Amino acid sequence: MICFDAVSPFLSRFFKYKEIYNYFKTSKSITCNYDDIKSIQMTKIQIQVNGQLLTVEADPEMPLLWALRDLLGMTGTKFGCGMTLCGACTVHLDGAPVRSCSLSIGQIKKGKITTIEGLSDDNSHPVQQAWIETQAPQCGYCQSGQIMSAVALLKNNPQPTDADIDGALAGNLCRCGTYPRIRAAVKRAAELMKTKSAPIAPTKLPKTDTGSR
Ligand code: FES
Ligand code: FES
Repeated sequence: MICFDAVSPFLSRFFKYKEIYNYFKTSKSITCNYDDIKSIQMTKIQIQVNGQLLTVEADPEMPLLWALRDLLGMTGTKFGCGMTLCGACTVHLDGAPVRSCSLSIGQIKKGKITTIEGLSDDNSHPVQQAWIETQAPQCGYCQSGQIMSAVALLKNNPQPTDADIDGALAGNLCRCGTYPRIRAAVKRAAELMKTKSAPIAPTKLPKTDTGSR
């Protein structure tokens, strides 16, 4: 049972659509029971983030995204849907891209988390440099997730084709439709990673499309 009054601020963050929010608000199966809230077990949990062993005091069921943003102040990772649908919250777990909105801190155990903050202190990571050079973002909200997926792709596939890029980043949605610029940025990052010392030169920007991915 859920105490709606107590959790409604969180529900309203999770459910972007009013209909779904109102369904939960009016559902007869939801009653207020403060014993449920009292029963949440706050535990000291250690997680490895960006090479540091950090301790958070939280319910083990807390999504990693909440711990990163609200407890550790790492706000580079974004909240989009909270349902593994948009990719805005993408981080790496032992080098593989995962959705931090749907992974609890209790599940991580000794896994190593890397967030966008862990790529570099000064935006010098080749993928960040390529993103800057190609001016890939529009509003920017989805881009840290896009970058984390691109970093994981390039680690396994240093010369990706358009199809490889589209496939690897298919779960990262961009409502601004920056997909052509993201493709260009990933290819530029591949060049930078190959040559390392390649100069950062201006690139002709592809037009933003309005694709439905
Ligand atoms: S916020 Fe995690 S996938 Fe959308
Ligand atoms: S740049 Fe705006 S959502 Fe992707």
